[in-house]
Amino acid sequence: MIRIPYVEPVFRPPSEANSLILQVTIGCSWNKCTFCEMYTQPHKSFRFKPLEQIEAELAALAGSGVPIRRIFLADGDAMTLSYRRLKLIMQAINRTLPGVQRVSSYCLPRNLRHKSVEELAVLNDMGLSLFYVGCESGDDLVLERVNKGESFATSLSALQKIKAAGAKSSVMILNGMGGKKYSEQHAVNSARLMNAAQPEYLSTLVVSFPAGEERYQHGFGGDFEALDQAGLFREMYWLLDELELENTIFRSDHASNYLVLKGVLGKDKPRLLQTVRSALEQPGSVRLREEWMRGL
Ligand SMILES: C[S@@+](CC[C@H](N)C(=O)[O-])C[C@H]1O[C@@H](n2cnc3c(N)ncnc32)[C@H](O)[C@@H]1O
Ligand code: SF4
Repeated sequence: MIRIPYVEPVFRPPSEANSLILQVTIGCSWNKCTFCEMYTQPHKSFRFKPLEQIEAELAALAGSGVPIRRIFLADGDAMTLSYRRLKLIMQAINRTLPGVQRVSSYCLPRNLRHKSVEELAVLNDMGLSLFYVGCESGDDLVLERVNKGESFATSLSALQKIKAAGAKSSVMILNGMGGKKYSEQHAVNSARLMNAAQPEYLSTLVVSFPAGEERYQHGFGGDFEALDQAGLFREMYWLLDELELENTIFRSDHASNYLVLKGVLGKDKPRLLQTVRSALEQPGSVRLREEWMRGL
């Protein structure tokens, strides 16, 4: 048994449950989104992990004989590392663990601003081929209110770069993020962003405030009114209704969701819309996740 010296807590997308989590950075280089408390503890302040330490961990893993097929680079935005450093990390992975088939990472749009499509294509060829992009919304006003530091245009540009490099993107959109006031424009503009980008994967999570709403409210000038369950479903209906996706795996099954939705868009759009309509119009007819089972 091998113990990896993580700086805890460590977060990963649900779909990376069976991957090796390789911490190549600690924390998040931005760390200013008002809804996100994930890397705000002092010991998680942003820093790079020394390459020698990463190589030592990889060597220990290789020596353990545990088969490793997939690796997720942590923490919050490992793609902030320079192309040169990412290449060194990918070389170390391929040299030490040649059985690895896929490497993925969280990725902020700004992480790619100074990386060319050609550079991303080289990393993709080395196995770094899937990026989880927390777009959260396609609405510029909502993005500004939550201090995401990104916009419709910057998010689209990053998603287009990923596609042009031959890699895949998995986008996260936050249900309820604009509250009552901005719910419809958040849904419609998020759908516009997805239609323009055509990501390979799309998931939605419900925005929640485990450490309280105060910081979030501040960005809205105290004007944020959280959506109730029906409001969240209505917003999901608007989003799905506006989506014109060709072949995107859609998942709304994260533990924060009341209503679990899964399918391939556009093929399953009518079925998913029908499920949301039933949840809205005939409460009780659709199974919902109990409040005590929800979490981040
Ligand atoms: C660990 S974060 C890293 C993502 C990456 N830094 C980015 O912004 O693209 C992963 C995702 O968790 C989600 N998340 C973070 N805080 C949340 C909250 N309070 N409620 C719901 N989802 C949250 C957001 O969708 C975020 O993109
Ligand atoms: S959502 Fe992503 S970019 Fe924003 S603070 Fe959290 S980890 Fe950092």
